[in-house]
Amino acid sequence: MRQVRLIFLGPPGSGKGTQAQRLVVRLGLVQLSSGDVLRREIQAATEIGKQAAGYYNVGALVPDDIVSGVMVAAVGALPPGTGFVLDGFPRTVPQAEVLERGLTALQVTIDAVLDFRLDDALIIRRIGGRRICTRCNALYNAEFSPPRQAGVCDRCGGPLTQRADDVESVVAARLDAYRRQTAPLVEYYQRRGLLHPVDAGGPVDGVAAQVAAIIASLGPAA
Ligand code: AP5
Repeated sequence: MRQVRLIFLGPPGSGKGTQAQRLVVRLGLVQLSSGDVLRREIQAATEIGKQAAGYYNVGALVPDDIVSGVMVAAVGALPPGTGFVLDGFPRTVPQAEVLERGLTALQVTIDAVLDFRLDDALIIRRIGGRRICTRCNALYNAEFSPPRQAGVCDRCGGPLTQRADDVESVVAARLDAYRRQTAPLVEYYQRRGLLHPVDAGGPVDGVAAQVAAIIASLGPAA
């Protein structure tokens, strides 16, 4: 099985989580989503969750020191040789620098950074229609990939919900944060020769085929 280590970069709603979930099934990779981690902490009202909630709820990035420690620790907790997808982390240059130092200490290298590209009009449609299973985290879209029965997860029968930060005013703030704080990572990873653009505008299977081709182009895993 191909145990690659990937970073998924891209604006909100560009399909990072959808494609990461596919790689979990197809290649047995571990999905490490900073957004999922923060939502769990917020829901459980932990100390991290309480600190993060004020930022999350308005669509601002949670401060680097809160997120970086949790995510580098999550990579460090994986059994040696495990392939993974970092989904939504790093999100700023300081986060990328902390990750780089953490990975060096763990003797882990990133194979590729996939840069999901999607225009704002489609982002807004996809986020507006997004529904998530509260039980198993499966992703649906009321417009593009509805469940067989409205409001019910095909996979586990759990109830579907809309994310609190998927309302229009918060989405605008998230897009702004992406442009100001995350987009500079494109150049950061381009300089390191790791960046692979993905046209995220087509159907899920078409995007998955691009992701698979990029992984195949990386050659045998180290
Ligand atoms: P996070 O949860 O990471 O959200 P995001 O990056 O904004 O990305 P999304 O989860 O919105 O979208 P996605 O690209 O995964 O798209 P998806 O596959 O779901 O972050 C949320 C918040 O947490 C941040 O605002 C911040 O406050 C905080 N945070 C997280 N990480 C942080 C960090 N590192 N530093 C600081 N703060 C951090 O798809 C979207 C929809 O489209 C779904 O309905 C899906 O079914 C559908 N879809 C997907 N692909 C397709 C397709 N090809 N065609 C049609 N529909 C599709």
